[in-house]
Order: sequence, then structure tokens, then C-alpha cells
Amino acid sequence: MKEIKNICCIGAGYVGGPTMAVIALKNPHIKVNIVDINKERIDDWNDEDLDLLPIYEPGLAEVVAQTRNKNLFFSTDVKKGIQEADMIFISVNTPTKTYGKGKGQAADLKYIELCARQIAEVATDDKIVVEKSTLPVRTAEALKSILSSTGNGVNFEILSNPEFLAEGTAIDDLMNPDRVLIGGDDTPTGQEAKDLLSGIYEAWVPKKQVLQTNVWSSELSKLTANAFLAQRISSINAMSALCEKTEADVDEIARAIGMDSRIGAKFLKSSVGFGGSCFQKDVLNLVYIAKSYGLDEVAEYWDQVIKLNDYQKRRFADNIIKNSYNTVSGKNIAFYGWAFKKETNDTRESAAIYVADHLLDEQANIVVYDPKVTAERIYADLEYLNTHSPEEIRERVKVVNDPYEAITGAHAIAVLTEWDEFINYDWEHIYKLVLKPASIFDGRNILEVGHLKKIGFSIKNIGK
Ligand code: UDX
Ligand code: UDX
Ligand code: ADP
Repeated sequence: MKEIKNICCIGAGYVGGPTMAVIALKNPHIKVNIVDINKERIDDWNDEDLDLLPIYEPGLAEVVAQTRNKNLFFSTDVKKGIQEADMIFISVNTPTKTYGKGKGQAADLKYIELCARQIAEVATDDKIVVEKSTLPVRTAEALKSILSSTGNGVNFEILSNPEFLAEGTAIDDLMNPDRVLIGGDDTPTGQEAKDLLSGIYEAWVPKKQVLQTNVWSSELSKLTANAFLAQRISSINAMSALCEKTEADVDEIARAIGMDSRIGAKFLKSSVGFGGSCFQKDVLNLVYIAKSYGLDEVAEYWDQVIKLNDYQKRRFADNIIKNSYNTVSGKNIAFYGWAFKKETNDTRESAAIYVADHLLDEQANIVVYDPKVTAERIYADLEYLNTHSPEEIRERVKVVNDPYEAITGAHAIAVLTEWDEFINYDWEHIYKLVLKPASIFDGRNILEVGHLKKIGFSIKNIGK
């Protein structure tokens, strides 16, 4: 069996960057080149100052420090990367389509297709091509047809190797994965390719946790895993609405059902709604695929997961309005957190964006503090929605670097991200700085209710 000596990863993003850094760390004999067309991103990955890496992940800087310019390289030379590689990972973005057929649901595969065309154009010897991005089922087929159209005798083996890492815990998830999934053809060359990729992971992952399946099962497993996880959150969030009408407590319910080993305790935290680049995109994609096969009931079933999530975000904003004497017009609402979860600077599909947008509809002023997200990112997120003009957004939304400045003169405080630091703020001091009656809307149920009530705050939680 041939040996893998050189890997190229196309796409230096949230998936490609950390995954390749760990592969390089665990396989010092393999040269790993990460390439990206975005020069700024590559420059950031190459920055001497490890605090300036383009993404923030606990432990990532340490791994990059140990591998960069030894066997891990970042470059914009996509062609050279492809030429030199025995194995090419495609790790480019696959956003939801914003135009044409499947708009708002289907995955936009233009970046994937561009990669395939580039590989086909440049490759002069046999390559193993690995789909790392989450892709609709049967994308491998499209890849194969583009790659085999070259007619220059080069053989491409296509593997699907979906990534299950979660942001904020990427390095830990990569170091200790529940499983690694590798899908490929059952032909002798397909089997050899699967074994070569398995070998790379087996440098640190126990063999029994490296699963091999056919390509389609692998592609569909990734969508299924994300759909199940998103569904758990929508399910507990649906119960949170019911809890607020009864005297049940959603956290008590989560604990009670979580002890049933068939249900399990993880991923039952009720919240203002799930965000992130994957859940909504993948569920919508599943809905689109089901519909395209005429499976309308299946499509409707999964679509409800998204509808419930939209409802939860809206409900949270409406609660703020209702409890502010039915108007937030001209009032200052302080946002603690903007990222879609803690320990990340990623804001894609973050609930905070939609809650803010809804409050802007009601003419609120918003002051945001997030420990990791930049002001430019926050403005860009709001502008992207196209519901308020850039001028209005900049006039009504202020972004500050100090949590106490954010709440000074605020009519209400809303917790949108579960950053640990929020819990230990000097809440007595905060009480003095906010307008009275002092109200908190905890969209993550992280603050200590008893303590805050004693100080004088009124606090509204999710599902209580
Ligand atoms: C259920 C609950 O399990 C139990 O906790 C509750 O107290 C009463 O309801 P029961 O209805 O006796 O118990 O059987 P259960 O084993 O849960 O199966 C219910 C149905 O689901 C059966 O028709 C079973 O065949 C089906 N099932 C179960 C599946 O189709 N797939 C599965 O993976 C599990
Ligand atoms: C997810 C999957 O977990 C990961 O396996 C996949 O590879 C990519 O998508 P990620 O989006 O990074 O990862 O974060 P995750 O921890 O799953 O959280 C997603 C969203 O759900 C966040 O907004 C989070 O706050 C929310 N969430 C999560 C809840 O509201 N409650 C929970 O119990 C868990
Ligand atoms: P993910 O979360 O899937 O990793 P990101 O958006 O963080 O997604 O990263 C994807 C990266 O892929 C971006 O940095 C983008 O510039 C890069 N990319 C997209 N298309 C190409 C291409 N044809 N060649 C090289 N890089 C690409």
C-alpha cells in the first residue's frame, strides 16, 4: 500500500484549520499544507503573534506553535498544494443557497465545485480526495464526475470524512473523538484509500472508534447527527414554553429525563435558540433533500425543528418587550454576549442577531458586550439581514469593550451567550448602574437567580 507523505487541505477555516493542525501534530512524518484563496486569512494563520490566529479555539495556538513551519504550512498557492499532495481534503464553506433553485434551503456547492475543477486541472498523479465539508448526500458522485472528466489517466478516489467537532471545544473533540467516520467505495482501490485515511487517524484514535461505511451512509450520517442534536434543543425549548405557562422548571425536567439512559443527559440545555454554522444549514438541507425525493412528511418533520428555533428566538425578544411595559422604543437594552455559544468568536446564525433585529424593529437601542466578538463583526451580522439600513444600525447599536459600560443606564440586560465570566460579575455594582426597575432576561439560565433577586433585580429565565 502506498504511503501518505503529503496532505493538502483546501480551506483554512473553522474546520480545516484545527483539524489539519491536529493531524500534523499526531503525524510528524506527514507534511500538511493548508491552502486558501483568502490571503488575509492565510497571513493571520502565519502571524508570529499566536493571539492573532483567525479563529479562537482553546488549545489551538499551542498545537499551531508546535507544528507550524515544521510539518504544517499555510499558503495561498492552491495549485502547488494540490500538485504535491497524495491526499487532498476539501474543507471549504457550503453555505445555504441565497439565490435560485433551492434558495434558503439547499447547500450552495459552488465552492466545492470550484475546488474539484481546480484539482482536475492541476493533478498529474493519482490522488485521494476527501470531502470534509458537510455536504448533501451524493455530492461525492458530482465530485467524481468532475474529477474523472479530465481524461488524463489520473485516478481519483473520493472519500467522505465528515467532521463532528464543535466550536469552542474543537481541539479536545479532535484529540478525543467519539468516533471518526470514513466513507468510501467498496472497490479494492476504494478500500485502500479508506485504510490509508484510517491510518492517519489511528496515529491517536483507537482503531475501534474509526468506522468505515459506504460514501452515502457517511454523508447522510453527518446530516443526521446534526439534525438529531438540533432536534433535541428544539424539543427542550418547546418544553420551556410550556414550563413558563405552568409551574414546571425546564432544568428540572431536563435532569429528570436525562437520567433515562435511553435519552441521555447531554444537549438538553434550554436556551434562547441554537445558532452556529451547522445546525440550521444542515437541517434545511435535509428538508430540501427529502422534498426533492418527494418525501414531504419527512421534510415537514425536520422543518419543524427550525420553526421551533425561530419561535424561541422571537419569544425571547417578545418577552423583553412585554416586560418593558410593552415598549422598548428608545430604551437601552444591554446584550451580554453575541457569539452563538461561549468560547468562540464565531457568530454565524447566532440567536443574538435575530433577537437584536427584532428589538430594532421596535426601535430599541442596543449596547453589546462580548468578550471575543469585534464590533465590525456585529455590524456586519446585522447588515447582512438587510432589514435595517447600515446608518440606522450604527446609530442604534453600540458595541463596547467593558461589561460595566454596557449596562450603565440600561433599561434591561439580556444574556445571549453563556460566557462564564458573566456569572461572576459584581452584580451589586451593576445594580447601581442600571435604571430601575432593574430587569435581567437570562437567555441561557446561567445567572444565580437567588443572589440577583436579593440584590433587587427582577429576572426572567427560559422555561421557569
Ligand atoms: C414505554 C416507555 O419505554 C416506558 O418508559 C413508559 O413507562 C411506557 O411507554 P412500552 O410502551 O412498554 O414503554 O415499550 P417501549 O419499549 O418503549 O416501546 C414502545 C414502542 O416503540 C414499541 O412498539 C417498540 O417496538 C417501539 N420502538 C422502541 C421502536 O420502534 N424503536 C426503538 O428503537 C424502540
Ligand atoms: C455542532 C455539532 O455539535 C458538531 O458535532 C458539528 O460538527 C457542528 O455543529 P457547533 O455548532 O460548533 O457544533 O456547537 P454546538 O455545541 O453543537 O452548539 C450549537 C448551538 O446549540 C449553540 O448555539 C448552542 O448554544 C446551542 N445549544 C447546545 C443549546 O442551546 N443547548 C444545548 O444543550 C446545546
Ligand atoms: P468551515 O466552517 O466549513 O471551515 P469557513 O468559512 O470557516 O468554513 O472556511 C472555509 C474556507 O474555505 C474560507 O477561508 C474560504 O476562503 C476557503 N475557500 C473557499 N473556496 C475556496 C477555493 N476554491 N480555494 C481555496 N479556498 C477556498
